[in-house]
Amino acid sequence: MAASGAPRPLVVANWKMNGLRRDGIDRARALVLLARNKGQIAGEVVLCPPATLLHEIRAALSGSGIGLGAQDCHAAASGAHTGDLSAPMLADLGCAYVIVGHSERRAGHGESDLQVRAKAEAALAVGLGPIICVGESEAARDQGQSVAVVRAQLEGSVPSGVAGEALAIAYEPIWAIGTGRTPKPEQIAEVHAMIHEFGKARFSGGAAALRVLYGGSVNARNAAEILSLEGVNGALVGGASLEAAGFWTICEAAGGPVMAAQGR
Ligand code: 13P
Repeated sequence: MAASGAPRPLVVANWKMNGLRRDGIDRARALVLLARNKGQIAGEVVLCPPATLLHEIRAALSGSGIGLGAQDCHAAASGAHTGDLSAPMLADLGCAYVIVGHSERRAGHGESDLQVRAKAEAALAVGLGPIICVGESEAARDQGQSVAVVRAQLEGSVPSGVAGEALAIAYEPIWAIGTGRTPKPEQIAEVHAMIHEFGKARFSGGAAALRVLYGGSVNARNAAEILSLEGVNGALVGGASLEAAGFWTICEAAGGPVMAAQGR
């Protein structure tokens, strides 16, 4: 991860459907204070709060160096899509990233690979960095199908002909999300290596700059080990991102001292 030539690590907080205005703003302010008091880190940090909080969190993060992202977008730029938000709307709000294809959207909203790809393309069209999520079920893992399932999701969900640095891919085994269970280090490394290989064939260039994040029960205790694995360029953090100090420990584990920072 921190090896010379590796892309700048990216740590993303996915707050999911958690937080009323007061909680979210307080948490964002606590993170800004930690960033200020503990010193800059080399990694890039992004918060993805619920859409209701994007506007106010953007103000709370102003000048802090911590970025803003959304949790989903529609594939169309505008139109008759009640309840949805478009990529241009999110860019207009100050987002730099948007998560697409999270397993909770794939399962809870029946999103297909094709829809996820269209969302990623919509994000790219307005300069938002899509964070495209992939990951196998427990049954697939038990059958030794993790790599094959994730590869098929990549084939269907990742746009082609774009530069590797324009997006990020998050490997989130479904069975590891919110369970406190994580794959063995060698299993994470195997899938990440395959994703990086996939990127070399898929992208128009910049495959070395592709950031492949691991997600699924990352916390302040296991982050250093997971983030030190070959091919792991950051983390997508759910539950542990809801507590500022613990989340900042994860950010520090990814970033190292600012002296080691490499431009994105
Ligand atoms: P947890 O960190 O709560 O396991 O969630 C992971 C996740 O789904 C992030 O997108």
